[in-house]
Amino acid sequence: MNVNKTNPYDVEYHIAEIYDKYETQLHDVKFILELIKKSQCKKILEPFCGTGRILLPIAEKGLKITGIDGSEVMLNQLHKKLKLKPANVGEMVKIIKADLTKYFWPRDYDLIILGGNCLFELSSLEEQELILRKAYNSLNSGGYIFIDNDNIENELPDTWCNLGVENESFPTGVCNDGTVLKGYSKTTYVDKKNKIWRARKRIEVYQNNHLLNEYEWEIQKHPIGYSEIVSIIEKLNLSVINVWNGTQNREKYTSNSNRATFWLQKNNNFS
Ligand SMILES: C[S@@+](CC[C@H](N)C(=O)[O-])C[C@H]1O[C@@H](n2cnc3c(N)ncnc32)[C@H](O)[C@@H]1O
Repeated sequence: MNVNKTNPYDVEYHIAEIYDKYETQLHDVKFILELIKKSQCKKILEPFCGTGRILLPIAEKGLKITGIDGSEVMLNQLHKKLKLKPANVGEMVKIIKADLTKYFWPRDYDLIILGGNCLFELSSLEEQELILRKAYNSLNSGGYIFIDNDNIENELPDTWCNLGVENESFPTGVCNDGTVLKGYSKTTYVDKKNKIWRARKRIEVYQNNHLLNEYEWEIQKHPIGYSEIVSIIEKLNLSVINVWNGTQNREKYTSNSNRATFWLQKNNNFS
């Protein structure tokens, strides 16, 4: 079902370092920690955990968390960061390397975190529904799902539809060993109405100002919106406890919101 053959985070091993240099935001982590405290979740699963931006601060609070991710490069970086933490933090963490669309997810969790725009990693609405169904199946009755994404409703905005123009994009930056990565993205296909977007991605790797390597691959995305998430939730035995807009400050979700953060609860079997 997944048309993306390559995990884009595994194309070059410096990508995880660039990711950590630029993705340093903590507002969502703080918000998740507040929700965990209020709901008293004890056993947590974070699919798409990457280098542990969300996972590590949760483990540091003494909470048990399992992270699953398909990228060896991202998970190596997470293992490196974990080694620098006190042993009691490591004891809270279990890490699994797997393609989440194919893997049978472990069960019996109080909270599943689908944070950091991770549904945008997937190539179609079918795949996004599959992930939400797997999250639902991994949850105890009364448990919670946190979903936090940009909100692209109705159709792809014009900013996604600039066909044939190559722009600089992630992963671009300078690594600690002096290696320079230059990432580019060129939109190759757009289905505005069905919100299918494809691009040719490219990375140039430089050392001492010399081009050392170049990699190219294709990706497809389906930028999901509020209504599509609600339509999947309606097929599952989940209640919407809250939906917010915003990143720095969370406000009530409205139809103009450019972010949609869901807090869902799995109903008891008898409800
Ligand atoms: C943007 S990173 C997010 C990392 C982390 N959640 C955060 O907020 O910083 C997305 C991660 O999803 C992982 N990923 C994407 N598709 C995947 C799949 N089908 N199975 C497993 N992991 C996947 C990538 O390897 C990457 O580490």
